[in-house]
Amino acid sequence: MAMRKKIVAGNWKMNKTLEEASMLASEVKGMVEDEVKSDTIVVLCTPSIFLLPVRKILGDSNRIFVGAQNCSEHESGAYTGETSAAMIKSANVPYVILGHSERRQYFGENGPLLTKKVDAALKHDLTPIFCCGEPLDVREKNAHESLVKKQVEESLFHLSDALIRKVVIAYEPVWAIGTGKTATSQQAQDMHAIIRKHLASKFGQGTADLISILYGGSVNAANAKELFASPDVDGGLVGGASLKSREFTEIAKSF
Ligand code: 13P
Repeated sequence: MAMRKKIVAGNWKMNKTLEEASMLASEVKGMVEDEVKSDTIVVLCTPSIFLLPVRKILGDSNRIFVGAQNCSEHESGAYTGETSAAMIKSANVPYVILGHSERRQYFGENGPLLTKKVDAALKHDLTPIFCCGEPLDVREKNAHESLVKKQVEESLFHLSDALIRKVVIAYEPVWAIGTGKTATSQQAQDMHAIIRKHLASKFGQGTADLISILYGGSVNAANAKELFASPDVDGGLVGGASLKSREFTEIAKSF
């Protein structure tokens, strides 16, 4: 079995004031350094205004990093309110979430746009955490497998072998996000295996085995161990539970 990175990423979404964000970051840093196994990578994906202060608090750690939640598909210019991949990189922020279901749902982000964002992020040497996942009605129609394969295909299959290896994928079934309704570890494992097989069909098994696939959707300290025990689940993308330092640390300790 190839060595894949184990990653636990917190997606803070649009939460916290600067003071609260600073406190959360310093608590998580202390706990992670003291308690989390050194081969687990922890990423805190903060609102863009908190990227720099949080990065400063985390320092130059090689196990806990800061990440953005989105970036522009454009290089620079007259795009009021946007943040470019180059800006994120210049602030020494190594990760960026792309294609989160909330961006797809509330901001109209789709496959072709996300392809451009993935390219922009990789051009500036950011690691995209690329999200995919089906809404409830799609799962009920048993069409989740084909939708998720399509999401991965349309935004990632144009990449070279060298570039796809830099991407982290997060499978986040929309019906499990913020609902307290987690996918079972079997459901997560099944979808992760399907995604990996799909990657292998395009890039070869050797490359597919190197890509970390995270599960997201109501991950908490009570269910993380079981989810992370599945062979194709390489970590989690955590929303609500990442806003509490103790709970998030317990999740990061769940490998
Ligand atoms: P919750 O963990 O709050 O369900 O959110 C998951 C998520 O959207 C992470 O990106």
